[in-house]
Amino acid sequence: MQPTLPDLERLAREAGQLLRLGYEREHQVDYKGVIDLVTEVDRQSEAFLLGEIQRLFPGHRIVSEEIGVVPGADSDQWYVDPLDGTVNYAHGIPFFCVSIAYARAGTVTLGAVYDPMRDELFTAERGRGAWLNGKPLHASAAEDLRRSLLVTGFPYDTWSSPRNNLEYFGRFARITQGVRRLGSAALDLCYVGAGRFDGYWELTLNPWDVAAGGLIASEAGAQVTGLGGEADYISPPCSLLAAAPGLHARMLEVLQAEI
Ligand code: IPD
Ligand code: CA
Ligand code: CA
Repeated sequence: MQPTLPDLERLAREAGQLLRLGYEREHQVDYKGVIDLVTEVDRQSEAFLLGEIQRLFPGHRIVSEEIGVVPGADSDQWYVDPLDGTVNYAHGIPFFCVSIAYARAGTVTLGAVYDPMRDELFTAERGRGAWLNGKPLHASAAEDLRRSLLVTGFPYDTWSSPRNNLEYFGRFARITQGVRRLGSAALDLCYVGAGRFDGYWELTLNPWDVAAGGLIASEAGAQVTGLGGEADYISPPCSLLAAAPGLHARMLEVLQAEI
């Protein structure tokens, strides 16, 4: 059996409630890397989502951040980020979400991203559009980089990796209205879909960070590609550019220019 968008909406809202309830409490923080952390609420949200997906859609494959891969049919694959924006969450910054996507035969067809602090549910269905709490979403009509507001993020290995995004951040900061760093890749993508940001790029993410938000941004009319302009941005290392259609080519030029 295949899921429908209302199935993803319900899962995202219910997991979001767990995040919201847990937000008020003291968190138990474990470190996965030097700066990469996880809380008990990431795990609670994941256990709920995986339990429900396995109960309702037995045999589907699930790729989820904390647990890894739940084996199943490649033709029915889920991407789950039970809490995107964990560093914000652990610091008491109310900007985080749940991100869930479903891919049929290798193509992401459904996506839901829920921000429980603002009660904002971003959704999309391939070929049908994208919505925020049921209202159609539209990417911005920006064409001039100088007047555009961008957003980006940095990988957890910024201390050690030369591909740390600081060079690109500097380039865009000098030629745009501004570049924000909000700390949730899934919401960054949804905000491009909503026209709140004109463009977003980021390096070395994971499929669960970008699968739902990428579909939402593109169904809202943004152009979403890899950093080289390629159509596939879900295969790791998931470096991607999502931008208003009038800005995408110009942003690619900036990203590809020699230093
Ligand atoms: C992180 C957030 C952040 C991005 C990181 C991601 P997490 O996900 O999306 O904005 O810059 O690279 O890993 O760890 O909070 O689920
Ligand atoms: Ca994430
Ligand atoms: Ca996460």
